[in-house]
Amino acid sequence: MVIEISFITAGAAFLVVLLMIFIGIFCQKDQSVQGDHRGSKCTEAASGLLHHLCRFLTRSSSPGLPGPPSLFLIGNMMELTHEHLPIHLTNLARRYGNIYRLKCGNTTMVVLNSGEIIREALVKKWSDFAGRPVSYTGDIVSGGGHTISLGDYNEEWRAHRRLVHSALQRCCQQSLHDVIERQALHLREVLMDYRGSPVDLAEDFTVAASNVITTLAFGKEYGKSSSELQKLHSCLNEIVALWGSSWISALDSFPLLRKLPNPVFARLLKEVAKRDEIIREHLNNYKSQNNKTEDAITGSLLEGLERNNNTDHKRLTDIHVHMATVDLLIGGTETTAAWLNWTVAFLLHRPEVQAKVYEELCTVLEGRYPKYSDRRRLPVLCSLINEVLRLRPVAPLAVPHRAVRDSSIAGYFIPKNTVIIPNLFGAHHDPAVWSDPYSFRPERFLEGGESSTRALMPFGGGARLCLGESVAKMELFLFTAYLLRDFHFIPPENEASLPDLRGVASVVLKVKSYTVTAPPPSG
Ligand code: HEM
Repeated sequence: MVIEISFITAGAAFLVVLLMIFIGIFCQKDQSVQGDHRGSKCTEAASGLLHHLCRFLTRSSSPGLPGPPSLFLIGNMMELTHEHLPIHLTNLARRYGNIYRLKCGNTTMVVLNSGEIIREALVKKWSDFAGRPVSYTGDIVSGGGHTISLGDYNEEWRAHRRLVHSALQRCCQQSLHDVIERQALHLREVLMDYRGSPVDLAEDFTVAASNVITTLAFGKEYGKSSSELQKLHSCLNEIVALWGSSWISALDSFPLLRKLPNPVFARLLKEVAKRDEIIREHLNNYKSQNNKTEDAITGSLLEGLERNNNTDHKRLTDIHVHMATVDLLIGGTETTAAWLNWTVAFLLHRPEVQAKVYEELCTVLEGRYPKYSDRRRLPVLCSLINEVLRLRPVAPLAVPHRAVRDSSIAGYFIPKNTVIIPNLFGAHHDPAVWSDPYSFRPERFLEGGESSTRALMPFGGGARLCLGESVAKMELFLFTAYLLRDFHFIPPENEASLPDLRGVASVVLKVKSYTVTAPPPSG
């Protein structure tokens, strides 16, 4: 961490020194060769550059917004290097209020920390804040801005999102329930095979969630030990982890650093190339299949492209299908898996909640397996799902938004291009909305009813609402119901300590690895 920070600081200093040297050498040389006239031009250019540099160093585009003091050159970059960023940003809100600014290079970020303020920006003023920050490295990771998640808000993006949204909806209506049921039953078999011995279930949850997406995307599912699956996961996880590192984000803030050798960046490029090769192979295989899986999203997407008379999709090409597959795989695997792992971890801390859910499942289902349509008759199970989404929103800071025009939030002027960070974790821990916000109390949703569910926003909101929300909700419900119907999760006998509930925050908020035993419930 220390090395990373000093790398950024050194990078910034390097940039300034280089600029000064450039101005000095250029002016001297120019004056001696061209005489006074060109010399004054040079002075003008130099003062222009210095003027821009001074603006870069001192500019505060939102003077009214509170925020921590900004350091020379690096601004508030140090604030962003905290080990658990969502907790740190939430703590800063207690000092600076529910809306504050952070500066990073020449970018101003505005952090939103309450449900009301986040809703104002993302839902009420959605068209002002639907953009994504455009960045050098984001462009590389998103194949030139062609993913839905990182693509900026424009006509092409809207057509892309519409195409994938309708393909997902079609598939939710036709096959999603069966696909998830199949994976839930498969997960059940895997857990049965452990015969109650202590295990870390993280990978099994990842395989189950990933199989839902790969079945939806191209009609394919994998075993845990499949080398193809390992290759796909390791490369997607590497990309997310590398892209989140300061070594990479420094390249966005300080372009001159792109000229220096950067082994981390080289690795990122290699993993992106690997990812594209894997996806290309899948899409080509899918296209060459004789009996294509009718329900696969890939089929719907390719069909959508072919309907050329639909002008909406004219501007979309194979690259959009390719990058949509990347979106679904990245967006839909680690999020759901992390949530399942959090649920088991919390239940180990409060076994009486698990007993209550089990009792409800036995009473309502009378021995059969649950259907998604049973959810209104299973309020205790739903309260558990909501409480885990509240306490550990697995995408705690959503994905950064960008103001596409001058606007305002909570009465503060927000200039175009300001980066907006919706701190969903902070909103879910706001003491003005949630009593005892840091405690795991699913019963709050039974007591608070609809109004407390409305205060939840784990999937964001507005134009950038999570594209997989319906998929995720069905997965969380069915996986949890199947697991708690057939297993009783308890801590291993030889381990005194329960899972650490603080978590490890990156793009996805995950629980630290732990082991659990899962025998069938007694009685
Ligand atoms: C527990 C599960 C999940 C949670 C909590 C979650 C949460 C989120 C959040 C907070 C965002 C950012 C919204 C914003 O920018 O304001 C997001 C975006 C996205 N999610 Fe999810 N997600 C989950 C599962 C999924 C699944 C299963 C899929 C795919 C099937 C998916 C696909 C996406 C995509 C493509 C985006 C980008 C949307 C856009 O930029 O327009 N997510 N998700």
